[in-house]
Amino acid sequence: MVVSDRFNELLEKILVEHEKKLDEHHHQGMDLMDALLVAHRNEKAEHKITRNHIKSVIADLLFAGTDNSVKTTQWAMGEIINNPNVLERLRGEIDCVVGKTRLIQETDQQNLPCLQAVVKETIRLHPPGPFFVRFSKEGCNIRGFYVPEETSLVVNAYAVMRDPETWEDPLVFKPERFLASRTEKEEERREKDLLFAGTDNSVKTTQWAMGEIINNPNVLERLRGEIDCVVGKTRLIQETDQQNLPCLQAVVKETIRLHPPGPFFVRFSKEGCNIRGFYVPEETSLVVNAYAVMRDPETWEDPLVFKPERFLASRTEKEEERREKAIKYIPFGSGRRSCPGENLAYVIVGTAIGVMVQGFEWRRIKDEKKINMEEAVVGLSLTMVHPLKITPVSRTSNPLTF
Ligand code: HEM
Repeated sequence: MVVSDRFNELLEKILVEHEKKLDEHHHQGMDLMDALLVAHRNEKAEHKITRNHIKSVIADLLFAGTDNSVKTTQWAMGEIINNPNVLERLRGEIDCVVGKTRLIQETDQQNLPCLQAVVKETIRLHPPGPFFVRFSKEGCNIRGFYVPEETSLVVNAYAVMRDPETWEDPLVFKPERFLASRTEKEEERREKDLLFAGTDNSVKTTQWAMGEIINNPNVLERLRGEIDCVVGKTRLIQETDQQNLPCLQAVVKETIRLHPPGPFFVRFSKEGCNIRGFYVPEETSLVVNAYAVMRDPETWEDPLVFKPERFLASRTEKEEERREKAIKYIPFGSGRRSCPGENLAYVIVGTAIGVMVQGFEWRRIKDEKKINMEEAVVGLSLTMVHPLKITPVSRTSNPLTF
């Protein structure tokens, strides 16, 4: 009782501090508690959130996190002591990387692969949350089992992580299974893939977007209005502003719909299957033409016209229609092999375009009435036949000069 009272007191104190911060209009860098407090103060909210609700959410988060971490630490220490070879290897790694003159720190983790592998192997064998629950909104088939709609489905993560079909010696504590066994060459290739796939596509998208913006002065004006209003004229746009700039987001989306840098992606059928009446035999390479899908007049109104507003949520649009469109918007591929950089790409490209629009006027080179948007496919990539050439002219209220 005494402990819970003191804990309540502590949470109350933290709540009051956050309330003060909100009252002083420090909305920047809002954390979870601030967001809950804003909801608590909203008198029109459909579901009323009380102070007690806020305290219990924070307590849940704190205890769930702490408890699971404590349990994992106990299991790990048990396994390490039962496996002296693991202890020896760990100690060797720490002595070598951290040295003997200072204590290990959080930032050392990334340089300690053995230690990371020990933690992973511990949670594989002894997951503190062995089951988790999902709720099916719609009926679906999972490996031949029909799961009706509105069913609670318990996933047995414990069993999955001890499945002998996937894990060699599943009951044995073997941290080395998590140590990358990729050859150096493979590793190098993957790193290059990440760097080049990401950079090249983002650069191309930025070029296409600037071309479209300059060819559509009304879009430029609308974008600038949005940025000047949300970000202001005294500071430069930042990554974190993106979420408050729906027009800018829509411009990026519409650019990648019309000019997807990866217009085709390839899949390989492991088994024979039927796709809309076509039989695809096993072991067939299938090229998906995302470019054509995103210009399909059956789905997109005026598919060849640059119209960012089509991505501005319309309340009247039926949910079904919206979902159907989402399936037809595939500039990042689809499924398990889809682009892992999607979210990052929106932020990088959005910020780059935002800075250029906010800080500069843009002039076409002499004699050019419109930016030439002619496309060329090079390999599997879509590029501008005439790479973008435009001249920046500083705006009078350029936040870069503040
Ligand atoms: C506008 C920017 C980008 C576009 C349009 C784009 C598009 C794509 C597409 C179409 C694929 C093939 C997906 C599939 O086969 O289903 C792909 C794959 C990939 N992308 Fe991106 N991407 C962009 C930015 C990035 C960024 C910023 C990163 C990382 C930092 C990145 C990393 C990757 C990687 C690693 C793959 C290969 C995934 C795999 O094979 O499993 N991309 N991207």
